[in-house]
Amino acid sequence: MKRIMLSLVLTFGFLALTGIGGTQAQNYPTRAGTVIVPFAAGGPADITGRIVADIFSRHLGQQFVVENVAGAGGTTGTTRAARASADGYTLISGHLGTNALAGVFYPNLAYDAEKDFEPIGLIAEQPELLAVRKDLPPNTLKEFVAYAKANESKLNMAHAGVGSVSYIGCLLLNSAIGIKPTLVPFSGTAPAVNAMLGGQVDYVCDPILGPLPHVRAGSIKALAIAAKKRSPLLPDVPTSAEQGLPQFECAPFYAIFAPKGTPKPVVDKLVEALNKGLDEPAVRARLESLGATVAEPGRRGPKALAELVHGEIARLTPILKAAVAK
Ligand code: MLT
Repeated sequence: MKRIMLSLVLTFGFLALTGIGGTQAQNYPTRAGTVIVPFAAGGPADITGRIVADIFSRHLGQQFVVENVAGAGGTTGTTRAARASADGYTLISGHLGTNALAGVFYPNLAYDAEKDFEPIGLIAEQPELLAVRKDLPPNTLKEFVAYAKANESKLNMAHAGVGSVSYIGCLLLNSAIGIKPTLVPFSGTAPAVNAMLGGQVDYVCDPILGPLPHVRAGSIKALAIAAKKRSPLLPDVPTSAEQGLPQFECAPFYAIFAPKGTPKPVVDKLVEALNKGLDEPAVRARLESLGATVAEPGRRGPKALAELVHGEIARLTPILKAAVAK
């Protein structure tokens, strides 16, 4: 009898810890879910996360709502996701910074990007733009380099927190130029770009989605795209390599993760829903119109995302450490 009681206690204890039983996993989802976006509303992470929350809502038959949990370069919201119940009702729409490279910048990070999540799938990659305020004198990357060197002490760079992709992109740029401007943190690049529109900061390195409408409206200037090729959306903006600064290359991934231990049937349902959504012409058209490169079938799913995270950590950690130490 004692043994039976013990085994019942252990079983229920396990289910309580994992947060979801077998039948529940099979029936998933039976209630609304949350997609944490670890940055302010209106920026690339938020817009991408909302597109995916909508995909899950439509394909899983329950509402998935976005919760913006900004702070500490996206690590506050990502920590919350890592600690959430592994039941598929709390997901994180993260990126290269939060879900791969944060550990480079935060030695005491509360989560391990590779060990504490179940990768669901890559959504898209978004090349960064070097965008400057409209009345900053330089009009090309070469002119920016000369201007930045001559005016380093009064130059202000906006970013979305240490370890965010806007921080990482501009870190590569600044270290290639050899400057240390004043860094001005925001809770996301939407407020950073707003500050630039108001003339309070000089430049930002932001995934194209953020500055694109303002560049088109002529209210800020795009001097370079940090990618191997130009974007069809801004064909007149040369790449950084074309302008002699190939080190400034940054096209961060945006992807969905669940807490570690999320049951396989739940992961499978999320993967299937995401893939269905990414195949929808309207979703593809929307992401592409924002400058994103949508994940093609061969790059989708948990395994491909785990490899991408691992590969980016291995590739960029030494480069970023060297840039920080400069
Ligand atoms: C945002 O959505 O605000 C950006 O993607 C944040 C970042 O720079 O990492």
